[in-house]
Amino acid sequence: MNFNVRRRSMLAGGLAAVTGAFLYHRGVRYPTLSLEASDLPTAVSSNGVAVSLSDCFQFYASQTSFRAFAPEPKMVFSATKNQRIEFELNNVSKRAILGTSAPNLNEDKDGITRRISFDIQADKDVELHWQVPFKDEFTFASIGDSGGNHELSWCLKRSAELGAEFLLHLGDFNYQDGDYERAIDLFHNAPIPCYITIGNHDFHDSGLLHHQFTDYLGPFNSVFSLGNVRFLNLDTAASVWPRSGGKRGRLVQRLIDEGQEQPQTVAYSHCPLHDPSGITTHDIGSVRERDWVIDSLHKLNAKTLLSGHIHIFDRTEFMGIDNIIVGQGMGHQDLLTANMATSKMALGKVRKDSDIEFEFAPLNMPLELHCHPRMEPVKASLRDGEHADLIKQVDAACS
Ligand SMILES: [Fe+2]
Repeated sequence: MNFNVRRRSMLAGGLAAVTGAFLYHRGVRYPTLSLEASDLPTAVSSNGVAVSLSDCFQFYASQTSFRAFAPEPKMVFSATKNQRIEFELNNVSKRAILGTSAPNLNEDKDGITRRISFDIQADKDVELHWQVPFKDEFTFASIGDSGGNHELSWCLKRSAELGAEFLLHLGDFNYQDGDYERAIDLFHNAPIPCYITIGNHDFHDSGLLHHQFTDYLGPFNSVFSLGNVRFLNLDTAASVWPRSGGKRGRLVQRLIDEGQEQPQTVAYSHCPLHDPSGITTHDIGSVRERDWVIDSLHKLNAKTLLSGHIHIFDRTEFMGIDNIIVGQGMGHQDLLTANMATSKMALGKVRKDSDIEFEFAPLNMPLELHCHPRMEPVKASLRDGEHADLIKQVDAACS
């Protein structure tokens, strides 16, 4: 090999290594083939005010609106001159208590939104930290595949009605035109906070849609702890290559490296580990990616994975993980089975010094929420036989 050939080979090898490292860091998503989006910023600044953000992010194109993606968000402000700060933080429990030494602070509660104003002095940091009073004993709800219309509204209402402090939404709130915008509005005005894992219909449809998720709803992957429970949001909306790369892989590796003692970890993700029907197209994208997720869950001592994607209720231990599928957020299975108690919502009961217990409450989707024209073919196919009486009731509710 002459010198020039060897140099070209070294350059090509170096370029391949740099490209490989870049792709590993960013992660490649498919379908639709794309680089993974950048992380949500943990620090923002404008007009001489800098804010560092924990468990919350700034809405796209807004300097004064933020949203929490965990129950106990924290913000630290610093400014280059004395001034009054005003902003709002969405997705905060009505029961959360603000701890701060901010001078002349005013906090208005409007549902799950807090409107805050306070004085800040130049070069004197101000910390605001919301904490909830229910760390040791609380109930949380979980369901997915609700679409973004009346059915989502009902799931949010029902979660609160069942005593949940927050909802883990398992993705797929975007089934039709207008759903994304409606869902964002519904999540922002929900009766309780919602922590959302992205579904495949929220990630891409005819093109990539996921920027709306990170602009207005939260990160693809995140983690928070409350009492003795750690909640881990893992994005399985589209496959990641390499499977241990990208943001999901970095979060999992960081948590493994930290090795924090955590008595219980509940993971939530859109795609389940398995499809109980045996139709393998409705679980995580590939067997190798699934096995990586399972291995990661074991390393993190996560015994439970809540997921949706398949519009059923199922609870199966799969390779050592209790995989609970609650993908009945549209309530359609009530009609398909002629049984209004078929569709279920998971309720996790956290109690001090004991393992989480899961109960499953009927979604109780009202009949008048089955009136959308897209339901007509389903209802038409059910008007005879054992479903006849129920569909008559639905027709009456819709007339
Ligand atoms: Fe899905």
